[in-house]
Amino acid sequence: MRVGSGRVVRTLRRFEKVTLRASFAMFARRCASVRASLVAAKRAARRNARGGGVRSSRAGRRASSSTRTLSASASSSSSSSSVAASDDDAPEYVRRASTPSAFEETSWGDDSDLAETCLRAMRIQWTHGFASTPKGFARATHGFGEILAGMQPAACEAIFAAFDAPVRSVMDPFMGGGTTLIVAQGLGCRAVGVDVSPLACFVSANRNWRASTRAAESLRTSARSAMADARGRDDGDDGGGDGDGGDAVPRAWRRVRNALAAHAESARFASEVDQAHRDRVVEALWFCLSVAIQRTQKSQNKRRGRRGGKRRNGDGGGGGDENVEAFLKIVDEYVDRVREFQAACESAPNVAPPAEIYNVDVRKFKLGDDEKVDAVLTSCPYPAVYDYLSFARKVRAGSGAVVKKSTSSASSSAREATSAYVDVVVPGDRNWPKTWMEGEIGSRKALRSNPYEFAAVWQREQEDWLAVVADSLRPGGRAAIMVGDGANIDTRKSIVAAATKSGLLELGGATMKLTATMADGQTVYNQARTEHLIVFRKP
Ligand SMILES: C[S@@+](CC[C@H](N)C(=O)[O-])C[C@H]1O[C@@H](n2cnc3c(N)ncnc32)[C@H](O)[C@@H]1O
Repeated sequence: MRVGSGRVVRTLRRFEKVTLRASFAMFARRCASVRASLVAAKRAARRNARGGGVRSSRAGRRASSSTRTLSASASSSSSSSSVAASDDDAPEYVRRASTPSAFEETSWGDDSDLAETCLRAMRIQWTHGFASTPKGFARATHGFGEILAGMQPAACEAIFAAFDAPVRSVMDPFMGGGTTLIVAQGLGCRAVGVDVSPLACFVSANRNWRASTRAAESLRTSARSAMADARGRDDGDDGGGDGDGGDAVPRAWRRVRNALAAHAESARFASEVDQAHRDRVVEALWFCLSVAIQRTQKSQNKRRGRRGGKRRNGDGGGGGDENVEAFLKIVDEYVDRVREFQAACESAPNVAPPAEIYNVDVRKFKLGDDEKVDAVLTSCPYPAVYDYLSFARKVRAGSGAVVKKSTSSASSSAREATSAYVDVVVPGDRNWPKTWMEGEIGSRKALRSNPYEFAAVWQREQEDWLAVVADSLRPGGRAAIMVGDGANIDTRKSIVAAATKSGLLELGGATMKLTATMADGQTVYNQARTEHLIVFRKP
């Protein structure tokens, strides 16, 4: 028995060694393959950079469809590109957008110029992602305050070039953080934004604030005088411990939050800020607080990720005066960005009116006959990729924003526009009214709760919102929609079918596809993903 078990042990040891060697060999092979694709991508990027700076020769060329597959490994950059001479004055991101990317690219439509413009916009989207803007692009308020997903502002601006008719007004039915609205006003267009999420409206209204110098500076002044009080306060915000009593604002930020709330009600605040700007300034102060909390939590999460460890309610910065200073820094950055945005709007060929923002399910939205727009430009929800409303509730509850009820009431009306989104938010309260949690299209939750019905419900939802898009456009108007596949749904097919039902004509577009592990020289991607940009015309 003993002898037998000794042999078993020896055999097992040998087996372990062999298995270990085999898995190490597999791991080594995997590393080698990732390294090889990185090197290939770097070479491709260098080749692109050498041949970069090209622009489409747009003169009346017609093509039905073209597909280019330029994966990092295949690197078939020899494919005949329909591009001509370089424009050395253009910023780097524009020049790069004229050369084929490392992704699988397809464009289609009778008008090859339009198809090429769509491809360029998609290349910018995929190269730079969202939140930050590429070098050479006016940053304004883009990316200030975190929100799920979003269009790359430079890609959004590139899409305007796909509208071959004059565009003086634009609507984004899924406005998110308001990228389209900011870009549109910078180009001198009237901008209308709709979103079902109170967080999106909060962020978008604050990014789209067309503040006068006086109003923006009064934000700085009032933040400083509120924080002078915060420095002396003792709100038990030592940055540690739980026992928060249900308050979702991190302990370390409660001193700042409480000082802000007190200051907004004080006579001093009333004397610091013109009556006309008071609501707006208070809302902007809360917005800056929510951005400050987000940023400190993000950097803490990064550090925690490296060290490991659990998140506690006290987390969110150093507490005490450290967060007071962090908040004031955010206010300064915001004031500078808002002024940058206002300057961009004022230098446009014609100065656009302030954006109109509607917090409502777009399917309940209707523009009047005299309000129809020349174009719709949006990045709509993708099937089962996010839960926007759950994210919104979490972030807003944690922001501590206590804003007096004023001009707008969330989700209650389809026709109450405000470019200063002001609403009641109970600090730390996640118990949102039921109406705030309804109406999201294509959420991940919807797939989980009813997987068998999801595709059919999705299709009906597309038909409903695209009917609103068709109705909001004036005859001859254009719609550009950026959408990505998910939940086994080919969204190009689904959107084209729904739009056609509402009488919109498909003009063309482009698709970017990522099907395997690829590298662009800096990043390794290993997620299968497909995104489309589709352009329609209303007859
Ligand atoms: C991809 S994001 C939009 C990003 C935005 N275009 C940008 O560039 O920042 C999709 C948005 O659709 C919104 N949404 C989802 N269902 C909606 C509905 N029924 N009506 C209006 N907005 C909705 C979500 O709240 C989310 O902000």
